[in-house]
Amino acid sequence: MAKLKITETVLRDAHQSLLATRMSMDDMKPILSTMDKIGFYSAECWGGATFDSCIRFLNEDPWERLRTLRKEMPNTKLQMLFRGQNMLGYRHYADDLVEYFVQKSIANGIDIIRIFDALNDIRNLETAIKAANKEKGHAQVAISYTLGEVFTHQYYMDYARRIEEAGADSICIKDMAALLTPYEAETLVRDIKSVVSIPVQLHTHYTSGLACMCILKAVEAGVDAVDTAMSPLALGTSHAPTESIVATFQGTEYDTGLDLVKLNEVRDYFMGLRKKYIDSGLLDPSMLATNTNALLYQVPGGMLSNLLSQLKQAGKADQLEEVLKEVPRVRKDSGYPPLVTPTSQIVGTQAVFNIIMGERYKTVTKEFKGMVKGEYGRTPVEIDPEFRKMILKGEEPIDCRPADLLEPEFEVMKKEAAEWTEQEEDILTYAMFPKVAPKFFEQRRNKKYGVDGAHSDAENKVHPV
Ligand code: CO
Repeated sequence: MAKLKITETVLRDAHQSLLATRMSMDDMKPILSTMDKIGFYSAECWGGATFDSCIRFLNEDPWERLRTLRKEMPNTKLQMLFRGQNMLGYRHYADDLVEYFVQKSIANGIDIIRIFDALNDIRNLETAIKAANKEKGHAQVAISYTLGEVFTHQYYMDYARRIEEAGADSICIKDMAALLTPYEAETLVRDIKSVVSIPVQLHTHYTSGLACMCILKAVEAGVDAVDTAMSPLALGTSHAPTESIVATFQGTEYDTGLDLVKLNEVRDYFMGLRKKYIDSGLLDPSMLATNTNALLYQVPGGMLSNLLSQLKQAGKADQLEEVLKEVPRVRKDSGYPPLVTPTSQIVGTQAVFNIIMGERYKTVTKEFKGMVKGEYGRTPVEIDPEFRKMILKGEEPIDCRPADLLEPEFEVMKKEAAEWTEQEEDILTYAMFPKVAPKFFEQRRNKKYGVDGAHSDAENKVHPV
């Protein structure tokens, strides 16, 4: 029986999508042991924006959060989201740091690392995949799903093949912008499965209201696992509700084996949190509405609202239609980058400039130039050399993997972070967020020595798992 596997996202993507990643460990902890007994295939609970949010807003050590999750959920695979060579930060890092991050994540409790690259450049994923293989972790590579004339099934099948060859243990179709439609999900899953032998998972957001139907068709087409979120934090920009998906397949050959009565206990708990988040203003109920604009304009919902706010600031809100027509042209010029963070912002902002300046590429943003130069990696389609020349104005393009230009940086970071380091993992926290991390380390130190007084060395040791 082809049992459908469920990855529960309430501890990461659901609150990242609905409440700016502000769910604290105090909010999670009381329900973790109950969740551990459900039988989820995995719990996506770390990485993505949670790391940044922990140190920037919640004053929580993200590594301590991971160790607590591991301790409270010994029977569930813990899953994280990882941006390949960008790790969880906002630039490319040298290979030695990427390897160290993967090693420490697995040592502290991560089982499955979902790795992706905004440009679908396999070279930006290889170091992380190899590191996960070496540490005996599960390397899942996510394909950034997008629309556009070059993104044919052949494109996705070729990328899927390369992912398998690179040593990935599974593939995820990552539809963060909710662009996938049910019948497209069915044929895409079938086509990808026809060329790889590793399992395929579907990650699709609910934004446009199609996620449940996409999951149904994907499951019928043979997808092995799907991402869902417990209903109190499902729908809207989050995911399909876990309970509904479990109910959908009950008694069929795809039965998830999960118990709706047990799930209800988890639901009750998160319903309380949901109320708390709405009352405090953290969860805006309008986020829960369905929005098909993404499908209408073929750009992610978040990008559309960014475009509108940029135009409003310039007093040119009436030019939205023109900007929306310019977006595909800018994408074509720049080698068809998928529209995900950070490429959606780069393409969107450039399209806005092209329209409001009244002349295309009269003003070129630093980021757009960087992308055309090759600083983010190889775009899905080669950029026209003439266009490249025009944008780079004499600067040499980068054709190698961007991280190949970086010197090893672990020792440098270790030295820079030495003043605050209480555990080896702090070096990574510092490397990714050099501006925010010192403030966090300072507060952590004050809390430890100032408020609590007593200090135990044992607390700082890495917990082997
Ligand atoms: Co997502």
